[in-house]
Amino acid sequence: MVKVTVHRKAHFNAAHRLYNSEWSDARNATVFGKCANPHYHGHNYELIVAVKGEINPETGFVMDMKILKQLIEVEIEEEFDHKNLNEEVAAFKNLNPTAENIAVIIWNILRKKIATELNLTVTLYETPRNFVVYEGA
Ligand code: NI
Repeated sequence: MVKVTVHRKAHFNAAHRLYNSEWSDARNATVFGKCANPHYHGHNYELIVAVKGEINPETGFVMDMKILKQLIEVEIEEEFDHKNLNEEVAAFKNLNPTAENIAVIIWNILRKKIATELNLTVTLYETPRNFVVYEGA
């Protein structure tokens, strides 16, 4: 059976600060640069969720995109959009909200909601030129 990958794009704006509380301010500034700003800063995150699997012969779909769209809206956009990730999203209370960690958190949330026979990949753009991809451990 052939496998096809369907993609859904989504977007959220969020603020964050990158820092390691075990380090000095100077070391945080050296490693994280402007992203260590204690007053936070924002990014326009672009999210691409890819779901790969066999085409269901009854529907012709790999996954109903209406369901995927709604899943991303409810589970990701409503939770992350216009939030301060460090302060308002529980997953980042003790986890640096880098693009890498945000992608893993998003993958973990969506993985629980998507049929196990489908492969899931999360691509997250923090800037138009910087992006990360997570396909599961
Ligand atoms: Ni940043």
